[in-house]
Amino acid sequence: MRYPPHLLEEIRSRLPASEVVGRRVRLKKAGREWRGLSPFNAEKSPSFYVNDQKQFYHCFSSGKHGDIFTFVMETEGVSFPEAVERLASEAGVALPAPSEATRESETRRRGALEVMELACTFFEEQLAGRAGARARDYLAGRGLDGEIRRTFRLGYAPPERYALRDHLAARDVPAEMMVELNLLTTGDDIKVPFDRFRDRVIFPIRDVRGKVVAFGGRGMSPDAKPKYLNSSETPLFHKGRMLYNHHAARKPAHETGRVIAVEGYVDAIAMTLAGHPEVVASLGTALTEDQLGLLWRMADEPILCFDGDGAGRRAAYRALDVALPALQPGKSLRFALMPEGQDPDDLLRTGGPGAIDRVLDGARPLVDVLWSRETEMSPVDTPERRAGLAQRLREIVGGIRDETLKRYYRDDIEARLRSLSPNGGARREGGGERPYRERTPFVPRGRGAPPAPVSPRLTARASPLLARSSLFSGGSSSREALIVAALLVHPELLAREAEELAEVEFEGADARALRGALLDLAAEGGAGDATYLDARLERAGLAAASGRIAGLVRPGDRWILDPHADPVRLEDALRQAVILHRKAGTLHSELRAAERALAEEETEANFAWLRDVKTRLSVVAGAEGEAETADETESS
Ligand code: UTP
Ligand code: MN
Repeated sequence: MRYPPHLLEEIRSRLPASEVVGRRVRLKKAGREWRGLSPFNAEKSPSFYVNDQKQFYHCFSSGKHGDIFTFVMETEGVSFPEAVERLASEAGVALPAPSEATRESETRRRGALEVMELACTFFEEQLAGRAGARARDYLAGRGLDGEIRRTFRLGYAPPERYALRDHLAARDVPAEMMVELNLLTTGDDIKVPFDRFRDRVIFPIRDVRGKVVAFGGRGMSPDAKPKYLNSSETPLFHKGRMLYNHHAARKPAHETGRVIAVEGYVDAIAMTLAGHPEVVASLGTALTEDQLGLLWRMADEPILCFDGDGAGRRAAYRALDVALPALQPGKSLRFALMPEGQDPDDLLRTGGPGAIDRVLDGARPLVDVLWSRETEMSPVDTPERRAGLAQRLREIVGGIRDETLKRYYRDDIEARLRSLSPNGGARREGGGERPYRERTPFVPRGRGAPPAPVSPRLTARASPLLARSSLFSGGSSSREALIVAALLVHPELLAREAEELAEVEFEGADARALRGALLDLAAEGGAGDATYLDARLERAGLAAASGRIAGLVRPGDRWILDPHADPVRLEDALRQAVILHRKAGTLHSELRAAERALAEEETEANFAWLRDVKTRLSVVAGAEGEAETADETESS
């Protein structure tokens, strides 16, 4: 289907290329651009560039380049419409109703779902019938009978080579469809495709709406190879993007505010039996970032359950590494470790629901698990080893994409690192060696004044260094002025931008007051009428403020004050300004944290941190000036 270019542009402008690419490629800021190792070629020195202003990436090693859509197509093997749909929903952009072609593929999809439903019913009937006697015994032996068997729609695939094929063929299902859905095994040397699942207990895998999209089949004998045979990827089934039991877990997850992730099908069923229907399983793969995204939609802090043995711990660490870059304020993970060698199913049978609850109650926060992993790896008994640890941890924390959270992680980790040194707390008031937990994270050390905890209100204010910075000179910055002035002159933009405007953090009193008036106007539905707005500002005593703000707009940006400015260019400029402003805001928060850390302890690392933040800030400040130039080169 063809999408209107302005919609594609809207999606591109809402999702910075570095954000979309950053999920797959570790990017570092390099001037105006981001740089990383090519996702297309194995390389040692980074030659892959992303430019947010130009909304594209370029890979010098493979010659590939494109925008967020081509990136998702290339790296995830999806079609253009799929890439557009996925990114549109992320960006919150509504797409027009589907075209003929999309409707056609939708019909095919429905047909495929009907076939899977037929197959599922067939397996269920086989389990209930004469052929299923042994499978029923097997399941009963594992405590999986009666009600729970029906809830999870367990089934049995009989041993014959053509049982399912004949059953479906009698119902007019074309053989190609059975092949496409991976119900039959084919191959160059196989003349007649035969049933993929034979003599196995069947665990249907359902999508988020509860439709059957794939199967897992467990061999019943201990030496069955493989133990579980699953559908491979089909048009309906993408295992890295789905969760077993997702559809059933959603409601209880919202009700309880939590979701539990386990490894196996049987473990998910066992959790349900133990009274926790808010459980999903990861489908036999290491947890992917997509799956994490699904978990975070269900609850803020999913609990991951892993075996207590080495393999389980490794799986937990892998999940931690996947999660770390994607963590967000309020969004994290907790880790529950099972007793050595036991999975939830074993534990339920040996210890009952109480044992499961104890394990869940003992779930540890991600930061603790990260800390244990890094400190247990090797001893930290010498300054050199502690420095090595610090370096590793700083690098890991540097991978967190959310700037605010990264700062909090830094605070936490630095405090823990200090508590490792023999004189850990000695320099502080009340000194002594207290464990890090009991300490207030960071206290600014005013000369002679007793240290006081920093309140979130305080940190929201500008630091002395910040007040002197060019960006924040004289109340409102020129960028704030640009944002507010653009809306004052073009109130018709308000209808679309109000939500965004409400979230921008302004430093200047004028900008804040005017924003308030603009939002009131938008809420009343009066946006769009410039005369009404003027009268309104006059009455609120804001006429002078509006004049001051207009005066702060930089000469190069003054064209936005023209009521007849090109609306497309205007909207671009506004959005660009908001994005940069937000980025500058988070960097300023980080700057304050770095200043505090340095005031507290004049280490080389803290100096380096401050320098690093300042460099990044100057990049953002520079981008402000570049906005129009970039604009011009692109339209030519
Ligand atoms: P486990 O080997 O831990 O099995 O695999 P389990 O869940 O405890 O199964 P039971 O209790 O022996 O029946 C965990 C998950 O990994 C996937 C399956 O999803 C399984 O539930 N798996 C495992 C496979 O896909 N294939 C295999 O051969 C083994
Ligand atoms: Mn098991």
